[in-house]
Amino acid sequence: MAGPRLSDRLKFASKFATHGRKIASIAPSSRWLSRAMCKDIDPTRPQTILELGAGTGPVTEVIQQTMHPESRFISVEVDDELHAIAKKRCPNVEIIHRSAGDIDGILDACGMDSVDCFLSCLPVPSLPQEVNRQILDTWFRRCTSGTFTQITQIPWYYMSMYKRVFKEVSFSLVAMNCPPAGVYHCRSLRADYASLERLPGK
Ligand SMILES: C[S@@+](CC[C@H](N)C(=O)[O-])C[C@H]1O[C@@H](n2cnc3c(N)ncnc32)[C@H](O)[C@@H]1O
Repeated sequence: MAGPRLSDRLKFASKFATHGRKIASIAPSSRWLSRAMCKDIDPTRPQTILELGAGTGPVTEVIQQTMHPESRFISVEVDDELHAIAKKRCPNVEIIHRSAGDIDGILDACGMDSVDCFLSCLPVPSLPQEVNRQILDTWFRRCTSGTFTQITQIPWYYMSMYKRVFKEVSFSLVAMNCPPAGVYHCRSLRADYASLERLPGK
């Protein structure tokens, strides 16, 4: 698999320099981190797959390569320049240029009533708490038997929070990334998740 072009990496780094926490990482995900994000996808059967925060598209590309060819896959990216780069990199993927804050509207517009694999590359700590709650609420309604996969640049830091929200949580550490990062793999939202007063976020 060819790595992302140098110009894409530079654009991503310059976005990090100007927007910092909204981007959350100095470099696009490595192929090892992108593969770890795709661990919960089942390539043997068609699924509905949602990615939030495509960036320059490294995870998007591996999702497309991993999924069953009859899977339905949509991705979302809010930044116009990163969206354009991801679209060029993965022209066959439906990459929506909108904020994940309107996740229900996006899924309704795409006719995706339920989601099997919910992959979030969003910078959770820098999003407004209402957006993080909205994302969990949407997962609760549309993804009850599916998987919730969340990238992180701060390995293990939010483990206890995810364990309070989901019944099953495991973590994959990915050292081969700049910086070392990881992935939370979650299933089965706890019935009382809505009573959690504080979620990560501003
Ligand atoms: C940590 S980067 C991950 C990018 C890419 N998926 C990767 O792994 O390299 C987070 C991405 O989420 C995007 N993002 C931040 N807030 C967003 C929002 N509210 N809706 C959609 N995308 C958002 C950022 O523009 C950025 O591209």
